[in-house]
Parts: sequence; C-alpha cells; structure tokens
Amino acid sequence: MVTIADKAVLVTGANRGIGRALVEEALSRGASRVYAGTRQAWTHPDPRVTPLTLDVTDAAQIRAAAAEVASLDVLINNAGIWLFDDLTDRAALDRHLAVNFFGTYGVTQAFLPLLTRSRGAIVNNVSLMAFAALPLTPSYSISKAAAFSLTQSLRALLAGQGVTVHAVLTGPVDTDMTRGFDIPKASAESVARAIFDGVASGEEEIFPDPMSAAMAESWRSGAAKALERQNAALAEAALASG
Ligand SMILES: NC(=O)c1ccc[n+]([C@@H]2O[C@H](COP(=O)([O-])OP(=O)(O)OC[C@H]3O[C@@H](n4cnc5c(N)ncnc54)[C@H](OP(=O)(O)O)[C@@H]3O)[C@@H](O)[C@H]2O)c1
Repeated sequence: MVTIADKAVLVTGANRGIGRALVEEALSRGASRVYAGTRQAWTHPDPRVTPLTLDVTDAAQIRAAAAEVASLDVLINNAGIWLFDDLTDRAALDRHLAVNFFGTYGVTQAFLPLLTRSRGAIVNNVSLMAFAALPLTPSYSISKAAAFSLTQSLRALLAGQGVTVHAVLTGPVDTDMTRGFDIPKASAESVARAIFDGVASGEEEIFPDPMSAAMAESWRSGAAKALERQNAALAEAALASG
C-alpha cells in the first residue's frame, strides 16, 4: 500500500482537469516531488513540481522524461482523449488507442525500472466505459477496455516485484472533456482525493465518484473479478513451474 507523503509522483496530462487536481492533491498530501507531464510548456509555483515535456504518443519524449527522473513511487497514467465517432473511420480508433492505450503502455514500460526499485504503484485512469461501451464514443470505449485489460495483466505480472497496479473506473467528472454534457458530474478535486485514498487503502479498482461508486460492490463480489483472480493464479503457477 502506497501513501503519498514524502513520495515522488508522476502525473501525465497534468495541466488541466483531473490531472491538474491530482497534482494539487499530491502536493497537499506532502509529496516530496511531483513530476507533471504536459504537452505544452507549463509551470507551477510549488518548487516540488518538476514539469516534464511528455506527449504520451511520442517515444522520444517518453525516453527523455524517464531519463530526467531519478526515483519514482507512483505513476499516474491520466492523459487521455475522448472524441465522438461511429466506427466508420479507422483513424479515430487509431487516435484513441495511441493516447489512451499505447500511451499508458509506453509510459509504464519506461518508468517500470524505477517503480520496481521503489516497490511503487501504477495508477491507470481508465473509465467506466471500460466496463460498458458508450456507442456514441465507441473508439474511446475500446481504448479504455484495452487499458483496463492491460492493468489486469500488469497487476498479475508485477505482483511478485511488489508493484501494485490500480485501475480507476471513473464516471462523469466536470472537466473540459465533458463540457456541454448536462449530466451529474463529480468535481475533479473529489476524484483526485478518492484516487489517492484508493491507492492508500490498496484497492485494485478505484471507483472515485458517485456514479462509479454505486458499482463498486457488485464488481468486487462479481464473476468477472473472481475470474481475474483465477486467471492470475493460473499464470502465477504456470510461470513458477517454468
Ligand atoms: N472527465 C470525465 O468525465 C472522465 C471520465 C472517465 C475517465 N476520464 C479519464 O480521465 C483522464 C483525464 O480526463 P479529464 O477529464 O481530466 O480530461 P481533460 O480535462 O480533457 O484533460 C486531458 C488531459 O490529457 C492531456 N492529453 C491529451 N492527449 C495527450 C497526449 N497525447 N499526451 C499527453 N497528454 C495528453 C491533455 O493535455 P492538453 O492540455 O495538451 O490537451 C490534458 O492535460 C482521461 O484519461 C479520461 O479518459 C475522464
């Protein structure tokens, strides 16, 4: 279980929305260093914040960012895009996968040596749409389902190295992403608090807002979670026997 005080935290997509709220919440919980990954130059008045130029689709920027970080306890893969499509244009799918799935994958792989050394945590800001697609944004939903599956496999594969891997099954949050949608939304600040609370209490899936929280119990006691555990045990046994 990983708490934030005196820890080094990296947040991607840190300049606005949930990412920005995560930066502020990490600072208020006493993080010793917050690496803020952003596409555009960005500054923060707190000297504990180190901006990193980090477009998660850019392999060279990911490598350069990893080279700038000496130690890391918590990686939060938060950067994401959400665009409307209807599955007729493959480019929309490619775009979502590039940011929401391969971005998460690429950043995670680059920082894994540091996280293994610190026995740290990986937190993937997924979406409730990983559970059930919203057919108005099918490419987004596919990319988040893929990111959720990545989270499950990494969790099992890294457990033996002491790295915890968390999925955030976020519902609607009041950010630029959902502007124009007239539905109940949680604040980014409350979601950021719930994410760090969930990591601290060792929750594998974090349900950080009222809509997602209503699904938490049925997920935790449900058949899909039981199957995930069964599959993880199967893999562990197979890997142990060579
Ligand atoms: N808001 C919701 O209701 C909701 C619900 C479920 C899940 N989520 C997830 O929560 C995460 C944050 O969403 P949000 O609501 O805070 O969205 P947001 O306000 O639109 O912010 C998105 C952030 O991601 C960054 N980003 C986009 N593409 C990037 C790239 N290629 N490389 C690096 N950074 C990139 C943006 O940077 P720029 O400023 O440079 O564009 C921005 O900082 C996303 O993964 C989203 O899918 C949000």
